[in-house]
Amino acid sequence: MKHWYDHAIIYQIYPKSFQDSNNDGIGDLNGIRKRIPYLKKLGINAVWLNPVFVSPQVDNGYDVSNYFAIDSHMGTMQDMENLIHDLHQAGIHVIMDFVLNHTSDQHPWFQDAIKDPNSIYRDYYIFAGHDNQRPNNWGSFFGGSVWQADPANTGQFYFHLFDKRMPDLNWKNPEVRHAMLEVAEYWLKKGIDGLRLDAFIHIAKADLRQSYPTKNNSSKPVVAEPFFANLPQVQEWLRPFCERIKQDYPECLLLGEAASANVNLAVDYTTKRNHLMDSVITFRYFTEKDDDVNKDFPANYQPKQLDMTAFKQNQTVWQQTLAGISRPVLYWGNHDMARLRTRVAKNNVEAESLAMLMYLQRGIPIIYYGEELGLQNLKFDKVEQFNDKTVKDFVQAAQDAGLSYEDAVEMASQTHKLPARGPMPWNNEQYHGFSSVTPWLDGEKRDQACVVEEENNLESVLNFYKKMIALKKEPLFQDGNYYMLATDEKSYIYQRKLGDEEAIVAVSLSSEKEQVTIPTVFNNELLKAGQYNLNNGNLTLMPYAGVVLKKQSKE
Ligand code: NOJ
Repeated sequence: MKHWYDHAIIYQIYPKSFQDSNNDGIGDLNGIRKRIPYLKKLGINAVWLNPVFVSPQVDNGYDVSNYFAIDSHMGTMQDMENLIHDLHQAGIHVIMDFVLNHTSDQHPWFQDAIKDPNSIYRDYYIFAGHDNQRPNNWGSFFGGSVWQADPANTGQFYFHLFDKRMPDLNWKNPEVRHAMLEVAEYWLKKGIDGLRLDAFIHIAKADLRQSYPTKNNSSKPVVAEPFFANLPQVQEWLRPFCERIKQDYPECLLLGEAASANVNLAVDYTTKRNHLMDSVITFRYFTEKDDDVNKDFPANYQPKQLDMTAFKQNQTVWQQTLAGISRPVLYWGNHDMARLRTRVAKNNVEAESLAMLMYLQRGIPIIYYGEELGLQNLKFDKVEQFNDKTVKDFVQAAQDAGLSYEDAVEMASQTHKLPARGPMPWNNEQYHGFSSVTPWLDGEKRDQACVVEEENNLESVLNFYKKMIALKKEPLFQDGNYYMLATDEKSYIYQRKLGDEEAIVAVSLSSEKEQVTIPTVFNNELLKAGQYNLNNGNLTLMPYAGVVLKKQSKE
């Protein structure tokens, strides 16, 4: 059976940063609505909105305190209904973020759980330990222990994998599973077309009595993923949830965020046999080199180069393993990582070539807002702007190792997720047409990129993305088979084939002129980035250039 999402081309919108319509410095739903014509011209056919539910915004909306209402900074329920309606009118599907692993500590369930240890909501969360002794040494993704003392002073602790103000839900409890299904169905009834299941791989936790072994048995918290990622119960508990959704809403795209899932787990999560998700987003594509890392201070926020050979190997494995099973998700960036143009691409030609290389593979593209302009991370110049203790620690350690404060902060600016969430630059006015007041995230813009200028420049990254998206819609690039061709680390070449139709995508990964030989039948240019020369199968690519060549059809 064919579904709309088989051919989805998704655009990720970080609502707080896309367009402010009421001039409070925070992007909102009516702002997105105003920009529908832009989305339509870009050619995408779905948007994924990061969370817009009521939230204290400890983690920019991933801490939900009411799943059934829109955060007042973003708008009203009526605004959301209007947005869904208007996006649909424009032929654009709507995917909402669905935060199912945890809530905000301000959620009424949690408030009740801590007010009354006998509350039925106590078992909606994970309380453990006694006499002020933590149950184990597990560490949180956001630093420190996963255990936070029960505010009710019971001597127990509650579990939080992320911020301490984001307690994890207890999915072992059937009532929690039922409650979360109700949330999902509430939004699907409103007409949305898909759910991105946030951090779903973490809903099951191992027996809490175990600590992760460390060299000197220290009690220092360890991020011990084997105890809380991808456990078998994740599938057991999500199966009835996914089955029910597919039964009631067969056209709902279930897109899972499976950061640490390897390809075999991705098969388990997406094979039709298992009745779980349609596709998953892995973070395993991007292996980084540590050649340039200064060993005198922590590596976490030091810029690193992408290991292109490992990247090619990863792509090959994901493409070939998921063939016939599900569609891989194709992306270069999201709100949790530095922007493509800052992290990997040294210039716009490279950014375009990398986009062509990624998105014309088999799978579902997710383009992070602003990437289509070649937008970079914002530049922060103070450690406080990151609002993140791990950055503070990094900057201190780098300074202790002899780096200047400015250089250390600049490293974090280039690598941290927050500067990748900057306001969308629509024009060259004071706040770039995003708002008429200082945006919620205020950093210095590193580049010239802005929509109006790029729209008027035929050679812009934006116009390249429009052409690339149009090409992606061709059946050859949607449904064709994929074959990676053998190349050295300086180029990336693959073929797509559907019936008699064939094309080759060839990209240089090198700062020098590259020469490769390709079958002479591929000589009909469909798309290019930078400059190249083709002479009887001898393809010369200028630094970081790329080209898509189709096999000449027989007359
Ligand atoms: C994954 C989201 O992408 C990230 O931004 C968030 O902090 C965590 N899940 C917690 O919800």
